[in-house]
Amino acid sequence: MEVKSMNTTATMISLLFLIGVVASEDPYRFFEWHGILINGKFPGPDIVSVTNDNLIINVFNHLDEPFLVSWSGIENMKNSYQDGVYGTTCPIPPGKNYTYALRVKDQIGSFYYFPSLGFHKAAGGFGAIRIYSRPKIPVPFPAPADDYTVLIGDWYNTNHKDLRTQLDNGGTLPLPDGILINGRGSDATVNVEPGKTYRLRISNVGLQNSLNFRIQNHMMTLVEVEGTHTVQTAFSSLDVHVGQSYSVLITADQPAKDYYIVVSSRFTSKILTTTGVLHYSNSAGPVSGPIPDGPNQLNWSLDQAGSIKTNLTASGPRPNPQGSYHYGMIKVTRTIRLANSVGNINGKQRYAVNSASFYPAETPLKLADYFKIDGVYRPGSIPDQPTYGAMFPVTSVMQTDYKAFVEIVFENWEDIIQSWHFDGYSFYVVGMELGKWSADSRKVYNLNDAVSRCTVQVYPKSWTAIYISLDNVGMWNLRSESWERQYLGQQFYMRVYTTSTSLRDEYLIPKNALLCGKASGFNQDQPDEELVELREELTLGGE
Ligand SMILES: *[C@@H]1O[C@H](CO)[C@@H](O)[C@H](O)[C@H]1NC(C)=O
Ligand SMILES: *[C@@H]1O[C@H](CO)[C@@H](O)[C@H](O)[C@H]1NC(C)=O
Ligand SMILES: *[C@@H]1O[C@H](CO)[C@@H](O)[C@H](O)[C@H]1NC(C)=O
Repeated sequence: MEVKSMNTTATMISLLFLIGVVASEDPYRFFEWHGILINGKFPGPDIVSVTNDNLIINVFNHLDEPFLVSWSGIENMKNSYQDGVYGTTCPIPPGKNYTYALRVKDQIGSFYYFPSLGFHKAAGGFGAIRIYSRPKIPVPFPAPADDYTVLIGDWYNTNHKDLRTQLDNGGTLPLPDGILINGRGSDATVNVEPGKTYRLRISNVGLQNSLNFRIQNHMMTLVEVEGTHTVQTAFSSLDVHVGQSYSVLITADQPAKDYYIVVSSRFTSKILTTTGVLHYSNSAGPVSGPIPDGPNQLNWSLDQAGSIKTNLTASGPRPNPQGSYHYGMIKVTRTIRLANSVGNINGKQRYAVNSASFYPAETPLKLADYFKIDGVYRPGSIPDQPTYGAMFPVTSVMQTDYKAFVEIVFENWEDIIQSWHFDGYSFYVVGMELGKWSADSRKVYNLNDAVSRCTVQVYPKSWTAIYISLDNVGMWNLRSESWERQYLGQQFYMRVYTTSTSLRDEYLIPKNALLCGKASGFNQDQPDEELVELREELTLGGE
């Protein structure tokens, strides 16, 4: 079946007019984006930044429906207002704009942005975010000859509104029509010169499927996973689960010709495959030979996941080694177990976490908190252990304490793979195994060199355990990255709470915050001038 590439799709959303301004230390970079109908740029422009940069991004919504952009992996420290998901930020109405003020504080690595409402993600509107280390911070590999964004994802030819309508009517999504590499259903090209080494930043920006990435006759050295420098391991192919990002190095060390870049679906009844081209500058000829096969066993993927470790001597965003934070020696203060499930509510397909199937409220939860508006949600409306009971509809919010050190176990009793993402945080992936989790499972945890990341897979009939330090006050979305599942209820919000109202712990609502729902009548501007100044200093990155 022919897969339409983005530029032939009728209702895409594109983000145009990228203006990057680079200043001195902790610079501000200004972007102005216009979301429009038909004929834009796909994928969206890369956001290129350096640790601690301030990113000021003005997004104009030219669609005929509300729109929001969210930032996968950007922690937005103390500032969940800028997270760009339904529970924290009012949607940008049609014809209006909103200026996000993000700060990539203490972060490095490869991430991406995407439109978070409805099924806009099925229409594109996503792009890569790179955060480079500051000039004086050592990076544990030589500077590559070039650095390429590789956005891969499954693709539906069906319009995003029709996909959403299918789900609203109680249906489910079929197998996708194909897979795109950087917006192309075929011949996406990576150009290389013989003998040189390149960094590829691969993100799975698709809707449902785990994908395997490989390049004919070329090994890939994994160097970074969502902000963690890894032990450098060579792989002939790499599983990239939905929502995840990886950096690999490849060296053009083969006879000069063109080679297949291959992306294929994993764990699907029918394997979907698409190819691109690795093109040598002195290439003697086009791609040839059989397209290399991908792995087909689950335990191959599980073994690969287990082999990905932090390089403890490499630096992260700061010069000190990544292994200097001994996560394995911190006392766990709370264990949360999360079991996903599938079912029906009122005859319609739904998904749930611990039986709670999430429904949005009309007012963003964070704004309800800020303005102390009752009746929008109830903290504790989702249990923190599996209930084994019937699915129920709720605007689910789990309350946790600021500075708690938490173990979260994702328990997947279904026979399809899951992928989970937590906004505002990265977490240590301490364990991942087939079978049911029990307290005994802790014996196999990696308490030494697990990777810290923001999106993790859970294999069919398996569990994955993470450790997380709740050091970021706010309202944060914890969701399935399978877009059908999150849209139909497999998500909730974690309210990381403190009684402190100090601006050291959490910023004030941004001055330009859009207000909606029950928050409409409120005034986000603080009358106290000193507070306003302090807020500007903090939100715009003084500190
Ligand atoms: C919309 O854009 C204008 C500049 O064109 C800016 O001054 C204004 O603050 C933006 N609105 C919001 C809500 O951010
Ligand atoms: C780990 O990082 C160190 C320090 O930057 C580097 O020299 C070393 O090659 C890396 N080791 C591996 C196995 O990736
Ligand atoms: C993976 O599982 C299959 C059967 O399910 C088995 O034949 C194979 O040996 C396993 N491979 C590894 C690496 O464990």
